[in-house]
Amino acid sequence: MSKQWRWLIFVALVPAFAQAAVNVSVTVHADQPGAVINPNVYGQFAEHLGAGIYGGIWVGEKSDIPNTQGYRNDVVAALKALKVPVVRWPGGCFADEYHWRDGIGPREGRPVKVNTHWGGVPETNEFGTHEFMAFAELIGTKVYISGNVGSGSPQEMADWMEYMTSNTVSTLANLRRKNGRDKPWEVHYFGIGNETWGCGGNMRPEYYADLFRQYATYIKAPRGHRPKIVASGGYDAGTRWVEVLTTQVERDIDAISHHYYTIPSGKWEKKGNSLGFTEDEWLATLQRTLRIDEYITNNVKILDKNDPQGKVAFYVDEWGTWYDPEPGREPGFLYQQNSLRDALVAALNFHVFHQHAKRVQMANIAQMVNVLQAMILAEGPKMVLTPTYHVFQMYVPFQGATFLPSEVKSPPYERAGVSVPAVSVTAARDTSGKLQLGFVNLDPVHEATVTLEFNGLQAKSAAGKTLTARAMDAHNTFATPGAVVPAAIKARRTGARLQVSLPPKSVSVLAVD
Ligand code: AHR
Repeated sequence: MSKQWRWLIFVALVPAFAQAAVNVSVTVHADQPGAVINPNVYGQFAEHLGAGIYGGIWVGEKSDIPNTQGYRNDVVAALKALKVPVVRWPGGCFADEYHWRDGIGPREGRPVKVNTHWGGVPETNEFGTHEFMAFAELIGTKVYISGNVGSGSPQEMADWMEYMTSNTVSTLANLRRKNGRDKPWEVHYFGIGNETWGCGGNMRPEYYADLFRQYATYIKAPRGHRPKIVASGGYDAGTRWVEVLTTQVERDIDAISHHYYTIPSGKWEKKGNSLGFTEDEWLATLQRTLRIDEYITNNVKILDKNDPQGKVAFYVDEWGTWYDPEPGREPGFLYQQNSLRDALVAALNFHVFHQHAKRVQMANIAQMVNVLQAMILAEGPKMVLTPTYHVFQMYVPFQGATFLPSEVKSPPYERAGVSVPAVSVTAARDTSGKLQLGFVNLDPVHEATVTLEFNGLQAKSAAGKTLTARAMDAHNTFATPGAVVPAAIKARRTGARLQVSLPPKSVSVLAVD
């Protein structure tokens, strides 16, 4: 064989060896149904922050940007396709400075305040209760209102509830009618404060527990329309808030919220960039994301001890990636690009939430448009769907599905002493009875060959969508909106088993027939 031929064969084979697939085996226990995955774990969060609301959702009726009564048509259509189950509003930290009366009545007469948390910019209050509720109706979602404990009062909160939900002829109900809404709104969830350990008042859990008892007493609504009441809980690895709240609050508490953000470096001072990161940062980001499993497990243990009847749910009502501000942008607006890495972060979170479906009954990604790990980036008339958007859409069949346990034998994906399983799997039976499978291949270099066995089901085939790209930080821009979009994927049948090849760095969802 000539030297040239030997070289050609070498060049052809090296990539094949370098990228040899890893083998993963999965047994899905279709005969052991677990808890129902509450659709609300696919919830969203929209705060008055940067261009999250103004410009992102709301442009006003007079805008040249195509809109329906002030709401961007492009954004509304995209959100409808996600079947958003619930939206949390108006914050976040903003909620504890928000006074609802500023956001009702003729828009031109509403006071202009300063959004002190987020960039110190004017808050026109153009988008208030009526605008939010109409938006929720437009996209067909339930509402989760965050009340102001930090700088508000029980009276202010009680009045807001009455304004929104009363069907009487009270002065506040009539004011709502005068402002254009006859029928009371349904408030499905009501949060008593946000991050009360920090921007929501810098409180101790014991102090907040007493405040919760006081405020919750006055959250009233017509019979049969009382919202689920959410207590502001802890963050990251913390469990003390759940411990204190479940031992010191006996009534009115339907859920405790918890916040966990994925910060690549683990350091708030220098978090890491949204794009242009190294493989070490890729792995660190995914590994830190997976920590949420342990944080939920530890909190759920306390709930199981103090609330064995399972009355109190655990809401992860803020989660997602948080990177350093983009150069040239106002740091207080928390705008960041969203890459394939974010798509994997989203799917890994979903897998963990499914695993804890019994207690984790809501989760809200931060945030819906233009802020942190957004579904949509919009600027002026332009708008683009992020990789995170596509993952939310791919996982729609898991909303309301019944979790099925699975055993996964996956080799590790490791570098420099950091290790995670190369492949993460979730399984559930959707509301139509179909078995749905979700996969994340965390390894950015190696394809994964997954062999699937099913207990209690004869699987013939499986097909669905996969999301991947050449670069770890591949992302969609206004100029290239199709850089990261889902493509078709199929499993092969091998005897009684199915086999599927997952591309490196990918998220896949397949329905089994
Ligand atoms: O999502 C951005 C901010 O993060 C929220 O306002 C706050 O609750 C959290 O600290």
